[in-house]
Amino acid sequence: MIRFPKDFLWGAATSSYQIEGSPLADGAGVGTWHRFSHTPGRILNGDTGDVACDHYRRWAEDIELMADLGMSAYRFGLAWTRILPRGTGRLNPKGLDFYSRLIDALLARNIRPMVTLYHWDLPAALDDRGGWLNPDMPNWFADFAQVAFEAFDDRVPLWCTINEPWVINDGGYAIGCNAPGHHSLFEPPIVAHHLLLSHAAAVERYRGIGKGAIGIVTDIEPKDAATQSEEDVAATERDDAYKNRQYLDPLFGRPYPASLAKIFGDGWREWPASDFEKIRTPIDFLGVNYYQRRVVHHDPAAWPTFASPTPVPDAIYTQTGWEVHAASLTRTLLWVKERYGDLPMYITENGAAFPDPPAAVDGRVDDPLRVRFLRDHLRAAHDAIAQGVDLRGYFAWSLLDNFEWASGFSKRFGLVHVDFATQKRTVKSSGATYRQIIASRGAALEA
Ligand code: FCB
Repeated sequence: MIRFPKDFLWGAATSSYQIEGSPLADGAGVGTWHRFSHTPGRILNGDTGDVACDHYRRWAEDIELMADLGMSAYRFGLAWTRILPRGTGRLNPKGLDFYSRLIDALLARNIRPMVTLYHWDLPAALDDRGGWLNPDMPNWFADFAQVAFEAFDDRVPLWCTINEPWVINDGGYAIGCNAPGHHSLFEPPIVAHHLLLSHAAAVERYRGIGKGAIGIVTDIEPKDAATQSEEDVAATERDDAYKNRQYLDPLFGRPYPASLAKIFGDGWREWPASDFEKIRTPIDFLGVNYYQRRVVHHDPAAWPTFASPTPVPDAIYTQTGWEVHAASLTRTLLWVKERYGDLPMYITENGAAFPDPPAAVDGRVDDPLRVRFLRDHLRAAHDAIAQGVDLRGYFAWSLLDNFEWASGFSKRFGLVHVDFATQKRTVKSSGATYRQIIASRGAALEA
């Protein structure tokens, strides 16, 4: 029998730059993603977040959509640039007001807000001072976090410090496909360390102010070696160290994985023990973003880990090239529990881009592949609960089709279709399926 716990949170997730639009409205400062998307050649088709889903103006309608789907929670990100336009110093009350109204309206609909402090968009003024490479980042970030805690903690029960440190670092500082677009092997070890220290500094501030719960959001990508050859097994271990354990191990009191020193070579650094004491500061929950597993083989061309995914025969792949593998969600949650201990977890993102019909026909958007993806992954989440994982909620990525970073608007992840020419929203079949699953507390997954 499939029944999720009564207090299980059913939600969807978004992030500020991906949906809000109006990035400079009402006194907001420039962010790194605004700057990046206005740099020719960086984003597919020259797309930008200037309008995105126009959520900055249509938020009330979007909350009605969530209520219509029966959601009990909503995870969204704050634009740091709306609140502190230059990253530090002067506050912008209009930015705070925007989120304050949003939070009130969610609560009026019995939708619990989960707030992400940092979902990739850094004030450009801080990037000009080195951004995540600057050792002052933990202080700047904690100061921003404190402003948010003081403004909203009376109404926000769940806080996430940083979304996906791995992608921030790999995309932003190693590969360069994301803002700020650096390409380096020397910067990433510094950025990783500053991200972790910044997370810890915000948690520390929260302990003095907060009444709810705070955690971090990591994407976890379980790995299988393509063959049992020594090379493939070593490549799989490196890939896992670089992506998963580089962040999770120090958060839970372990040193950085040894193989990172090999990956980063001369760029590798040793850090004082006192830093690791800070980084391991206890969190109240872990947010897990799960999209795919990777079957890995050794690949001399795949800088910097020399590990590449191996195509799996008969597997379904999403439009972003990610293998659909629901069973690995169960396995990921069990792995966290086994390796790092029994702590509350939320699935803070899970979803897929599939080639949906380009427009609604007769008021319908049918997305059978996403329906199946959602059902299979929710069953996998329930399996984890049945095996003892303290899983408290599920947030689908995403509520709306939105600006998918360097892919622009070419990849749709929404439960709700957005016609970007008219901003009309249409609930997809997957959204309707989610509504049934929520209303039945999972029983609809048995059929
Ligand atoms: C995650 C990001 C999210 C979205 C999904 C598809 O890595 O956190 O913003 O882009 O991927």
